[in-house]
Amino acid sequence: MGIRDIKEYINSKRELVNAFLDSYFTPPIKPIKLNDAMVYSLMAGGKRLRPILCIASYEACGGKAEEIVSYASALEFIHTYSLIHDDLPAMDNDDLRRGRLTNHKVYGEGMAILAGDGLLTEAFAILSTTDHCSESGFMPPSSSLLRIINSVAKAAGLHGMVAGQAQDLLSEDLAPEEQTLAFIHSHKTAALIGVSVKMGAMLADAPEEAIIKLTGYGANIGLAFQVVDDVLDLTESTETLGKPSGSDERKKKMTYPSLYGIQESKKRAESLISSALACLEGFDDKAWALRDIAAYMLNRKN
Ligand code: IPE
Ligand code: IPE
Ligand code: MG
Ligand code: MG
Ligand code: MG
Repeated sequence: MGIRDIKEYINSKRELVNAFLDSYFTPPIKPIKLNDAMVYSLMAGGKRLRPILCIASYEACGGKAEEIVSYASALEFIHTYSLIHDDLPAMDNDDLRRGRLTNHKVYGEGMAILAGDGLLTEAFAILSTTDHCSESGFMPPSSSLLRIINSVAKAAGLHGMVAGQAQDLLSEDLAPEEQTLAFIHSHKTAALIGVSVKMGAMLADAPEEAIIKLTGYGANIGLAFQVVDDVLDLTESTETLGKPSGSDERKKKMTYPSLYGIQESKKRAESLISSALACLEGFDDKAWALRDIAAYMLNRKN
């Protein structure tokens, strides 16, 4: 059955993703400054949660991780773009990310915006090709890729993250309110995490019923992930987080703790994780990593 420790599992999948990301900009693209700005944020040591979830979902549906590393890694391009833009002075105005100065602090706002644009666009170049498939022998049908591209575009864009980020900005300084908060968090964060899980199932050509269940799992852990992120912003140090602690309060963000308090937010995260696990009923032991990642999500410190 191979590795059964979730930390080892996460580390080994992270290495697969990092190897792909590392090789992607060799040789570098021009201008070199843009190349360096993208690589700076991409290789700064993120958790790689979205690609790892995609891989775990693919494995839960019977696939082998090595076959889909390129597609899974495209999700990290989109996520890293979102972080670079999220940190800009016009958005959250943060100076630290992944333990380093934020992209615009090093490369300037213009290059940071373009590095984000470049990563987002390139993600779709990766998703729409089978060029990276030759080594593994795995070849997704183009109909699956089209469906995946459509789902990812929706989750990253107007039906997901971009809408959530817009509502997040529009809600600064406003009194927290249940429905708006749920909209922000399910769109800005849960949508991309949810589609990462869904994508694994679609790449495996899983039956529709399995895709629906895994989409439910992804939506629940995605929301839980942002609730925990809000709590950690208040309870962990800048050093542990690798990004500025207390940023949400400074920007008067609408967060779960701002509406429900820390204890109730933690309870809600736990209950979302239970709902996520319930969606996996009927899946066999190949879904063990998805089950264990759900628990890891609650106990993380960064
Ligand atoms: C941070 O995401 C942004 C949120 C959606 C909360 P992660 O916590 O996954 O950040 P990295 O990729 O590990 O840096
Ligand atoms: C951002 O939420 C979610 C994104 C889409 C990037 P946050 O603004 O809370 O993320 P952090 O805390 O800066 O990582
Ligand atoms: Mg933000
Ligand atoms: Mg932020
Ligand atoms: Mg946050």
